[in-house]
Amino acid sequence: MTILHTARMRLEPIAERHFEGLYAMDQIPEVMRYISGTPATREQTTAAVSRIGRCWAAWGTSWWAFIEPTTGRLAGAGCIQYARRETELPADLDSLRVNPLEIGWRLHPDFWRKGLATEAAQRMAAFAFDELAAPELIAVRHPENLASANVMDRLGMRYRGIETWYGELGATHVIGRDEWLGAKSRKCLESAR
Ligand SMILES: CC(C)(COP(=O)(O)OP(=O)(O)OC[C@H]1O[C@@H](n2cnc3c(N)ncnc32)[C@H](O)[C@@H]1OP(=O)(O)O)[C@@H](O)C(=O)NCCC(=O)NCCS
Repeated sequence: MTILHTARMRLEPIAERHFEGLYAMDQIPEVMRYISGTPATREQTTAAVSRIGRCWAAWGTSWWAFIEPTTGRLAGAGCIQYARRETELPADLDSLRVNPLEIGWRLHPDFWRKGLATEAAQRMAAFAFDELAAPELIAVRHPENLASANVMDRLGMRYRGIETWYGELGATHVIGRDEWLGAKSRKCLESAR
């Protein structure tokens, strides 16, 4: 399980110790508005932490908790995981490896509008392309979730259309490996100027 670092956060693979922070965040209606539409229960968060543990063990990637190093507070969470068409996670997790990897994020509202979701997303995307050799990454959002669309744009993703993922229709964005590497080398050239 891989810990990632950004300029302002530590990304820790989600484990039992993150439960209270996750549960506190996932109870906030504005966080869940475009995800499930309703605040999470303790049982749902418990089940999520357990599913995440299984995914890390099977794939070597799943959800991270975004930790503010100075306070130890959970600022948010994000993932690189195999996307699925169905609502439920199948028993055979390896069967999902035929699907693209998905990147996702959510922040506690105390941490919105500071650029932290984009900062974490850039680090997670680098993990997917550099460590997992992903050919592409997708991101899926509720069509009205414009704040999330902005993060996808900042990451260099392009809108592909409305597709079925997780048993629902969602606005789907994509970035290919070549586009990611191209954007990275342009940034290197700019910083060398
Ligand atoms: C989606 C979500 C993570 C976006 O959070 P965010 O804070 O708006 O996104 P970013 O981290 O990219 O921050 C960008 C904002 O911070 C501002 N900002 C401030 N300091 C910044 C910095 N140092 N660097 C970059 N941006 C900065 C930007 O101007 C921008 O504000 P704007 O949207 O008013 O222009 C957040 O709205 C959220 O958690 N929503 C609920 C959960 C959810 O819907 N998740 C997505 C499911 S698909």
